[in-house]
Amino acid sequence: MDALILRTILELSDDMFILLAGDGTIRWVSPQLARMRRVDARSVVGRDLSAVLPDPHLQEAVDQAIAAGKSQQVSVKLNPDEVELAARIVPIAPSPDEDVQAVVIAMSQLELVKQLQTMRREFVANVSHELRSPLTSILGYAETLLYDPPEDEEQKTRFLVAVVREAQRMQRLVEDMLNLSRIESGQASPQFVGANLHNIVGRVLTQLKGQADQARVKLSNEVPPELRLECDPVQIEQVVYNLVSNGIQYTPAGGSVTVSGWAEADKVALRVTDTGIGIPPADLPRIFERFYRVDKARSRATGATGLGLAIVKHIVDAHRGKVSVESEPGHGSSFTVELPAVQRGRS
Ligand SMILES: Nc1ncnc2c1ncn2[C@@H]1O[C@H](COP(=O)(O)OP(=O)(O)OP(=O)(O)O)[C@@H](O)[C@H]1O
Ligand SMILES: [Mg+2]
Repeated sequence: MDALILRTILELSDDMFILLAGDGTIRWVSPQLARMRRVDARSVVGRDLSAVLPDPHLQEAVDQAIAAGKSQQVSVKLNPDEVELAARIVPIAPSPDEDVQAVVIAMSQLELVKQLQTMRREFVANVSHELRSPLTSILGYAETLLYDPPEDEEQKTRFLVAVVREAQRMQRLVEDMLNLSRIESGQASPQFVGANLHNIVGRVLTQLKGQADQARVKLSNEVPPELRLECDPVQIEQVVYNLVSNGIQYTPAGGSVTVSGWAEADKVALRVTDTGIGIPPADLPRIFERFYRVDKARSRATGATGLGLAIVKHIVDAHRGKVSVESEPGHGSSFTVELPAVQRGRS
């Protein structure tokens, strides 16, 4: 009876709990956590902690808590929002001399809500900031044309061209943001079909040929002609597009961007390698964040919004894949996307 009462209290609580047996396997997961991690609370019973929270630091802390019989606290990353929560780990033994028989892991929902609020505030501030600079330019040019028009026709045209360029930049920004929010909210969840990766890459390279020729950057498709996977081809085309267009954008004339691909166990990998300017090690961990750009001044000139890689990351997450980057400043960058070859039972 006491157990039932306790469980009811835990289920009514807003906080998130996992109860482990002494051997570290799952005995119970609170409904709030199961919902958040999109797992079925019943079917994970008896499995390892990684079935709910695949974080190696958490597992280490739990092992320590069991071995030493002492409480631990560790910060756990909850995808997809990159929110980090403090997890408190409490081992339970009948007496200090006896073996640990259970472990309680608790995380605060309040802390999660606070973090999400902070992220939202930062997001609104970033968006406003990004929209403000093109808007200021448009207003400046338009007011000049209206109140103090230059005599020179060519000068007038230059101002108008600048207005169009800045307006296009705002349009891209808004479209990219809508795209991102559709993927994030699950509205644009992937429509999986069998697809040929070589052909997807081929279509992207055709679209980007003009841009590459202009930048004098050579493009090559080295994906094997028969490499296939189950994916949303429209979304994966967007991933390849964003990675290759970055490759072109950040590679000086005379360089190259190569797309390769291979099958590996139950995965298909795609790699976009360029011979460009590279990314400093300190920036590497942040480039998938929205609006993050290594060189803010340069991107203002090129109209880059800093959303391309955030979109890549979200699409790859929605495919249950992984994206990683390696780079050496001055020598080039290499982005690798790993995707499940088969998206069994998903739609
Ligand atoms: N291949 C690359 N070589 C060097 N730097 C890169 C490369 N790809 C991305 N970066 C760096 O990462 C940043 C983020 O890239 P991301 O594609 O998200 O934004 P962006 O290219 O600035 O803008 P856009 O939204 O137009 O793609 C870039 O501003 C650039 O500094
Ligand atoms: Mg980009």
